[in-house]
Amino acid sequence: MPYQIWNRRYTGSKYKLSSWISDLIQDNCVGNSFCDMFAGTAIMSKKMIDNFDEIYINDFLYSNEVIYKAFFEQSNYNSTKLEILKNNFMKVPLSQISENYVSENFGDKFFSSNDARRIGYIREQIECNDDLNEKEKNILLASLLYSLDKAANTVGHYDAYIKGKQINDTFTFELIEPYVFKNKKIHISRLDANVLAKSIKCDIVYIDPPYNSRQYSRFYHVLENITKWEKPELFGTACKPKAENMSEYCRSSATRTFEELISSLKCKYIVVSYNNTYNSKSSSSRNKISLADIKCILENKGTVSVFEKEHQYFNAGKTELPNHKELVFITKVGG
Ligand SMILES: C[S@@+](CC[C@H](N)C(=O)[O-])C[C@H]1O[C@@H](n2cnc3c(N)ncnc32)[C@H](O)[C@@H]1O
Repeated sequence: MPYQIWNRRYTGSKYKLSSWISDLIQDNCVGNSFCDMFAGTAIMSKKMIDNFDEIYINDFLYSNEVIYKAFFEQSNYNSTKLEILKNNFMKVPLSQISENYVSENFGDKFFSSNDARRIGYIREQIECNDDLNEKEKNILLASLLYSLDKAANTVGHYDAYIKGKQINDTFTFELIEPYVFKNKKIHISRLDANVLAKSIKCDIVYIDPPYNSRQYSRFYHVLENITKWEKPELFGTACKPKAENMSEYCRSSATRTFEELISSLKCKYIVVSYNNTYNSKSSSSRNKISLADIKCILENKGTVSVFEKEHQYFNAGKTELPNHKELVFITKVGG
C-alpha cells in the first residue's frame, strides 16, 4: 500500500486531533487562504486544503519540505518509471551493494546493518539518476524517508536508538501516494516562521510551534542528513551532525519570539495550538510559553476564544503527563 501523509511517527503530530481542530476552524473562521506555518507532517494542510483556494505549507526542516513537495506540488511525474525504480531498488542482492555512508554510520544502530546498506544504496541511486525531474526525485526521497522510518530502531525519533536488542532486517521500499488537486494555489517553503510571517498575507494562519526544549532538527537529524546527502561528519552516540535549525521556540526566548511572530502577521484569524505540560516532571517536556502569555499576546491582536481537549499525545519517552490538555486559541484579528 502506498504511504499517505500521516503514515509517519512525528512528535506533536496533530493527526488524532485534526478533525477537532478542523471543525473549530470551520466553525469560527472565514476565508479563502490558509497557512500551516509550523506544518510538521502537514496533516493539517491535508485536512484543510479542500476548503481553501490558496494554501501555504511551511516548516524549517529540509526533510519536511521534500515531503510537502512530493505530496502536494502539482507537477508532472511518470508513475511507471517510479514503480520500476521501486522494484529495482529491492531486487538488487545485498552481495552487490557495498558499504556506504548510511551503513557505516547508522548500521547496527538506527537500522540493521543490511537495511542501512540498502538505504544508503537507494539514496545514492536517487542522487545519481539524471533521468528524474524534480517531482520524481522528491517522490522517491519522501518514499525513502517514510520507508526507512518504518524500519528504524527508535522510539519514534532519532535522539537515540534502542540499545542491546537484535535489530531485524525489516526495510522495504514503498512509494508515497502524491495528491492531485484542481485549481489550488499551493505555496511550499522552508523558512523560519518569523521570516515567513513578515512576507505573506493570508486569511487564516495556523500556528503549531514546538512546546518544549526538544529541538526537532536534533530529533529528526537522520531524516535531515539523508535528505540533504552532504555526508557530514557525525558526533556522539546518536551520530548527529553539527547543529542547525535550532528553534527559538525551544529556548527561553520563546515568548518574545512568539510575540514578534504574532505582531508581524497580516491576516484575519490566528489559530494557535499549544498544550499544558508546564508542570511536567521532566524539564525538557515543560512548556516554553505560558498559556497566560499566549492569551495576552493574542489579545493585543483581537478577540480570543480558547478551546480545550484532553489528549495523550505521542510521547516517545517515559515522561508522565497527567491531565494533559491540548488547547486551541482562535483570534479574530481586529475583532
Ligand atoms: C508541534 S510541530 C508541528 C506539528 C504539525 N502541526 C503536525 O500536525 O504534524 C512543530 C514544527 O515546527 C517546526 N519548527 C520549529 N521551529 C520553527 C521555526 N522557527 N520556523 C519554522 N518551523 C519551525 C518543527 O520542525 C516542527 O515540525
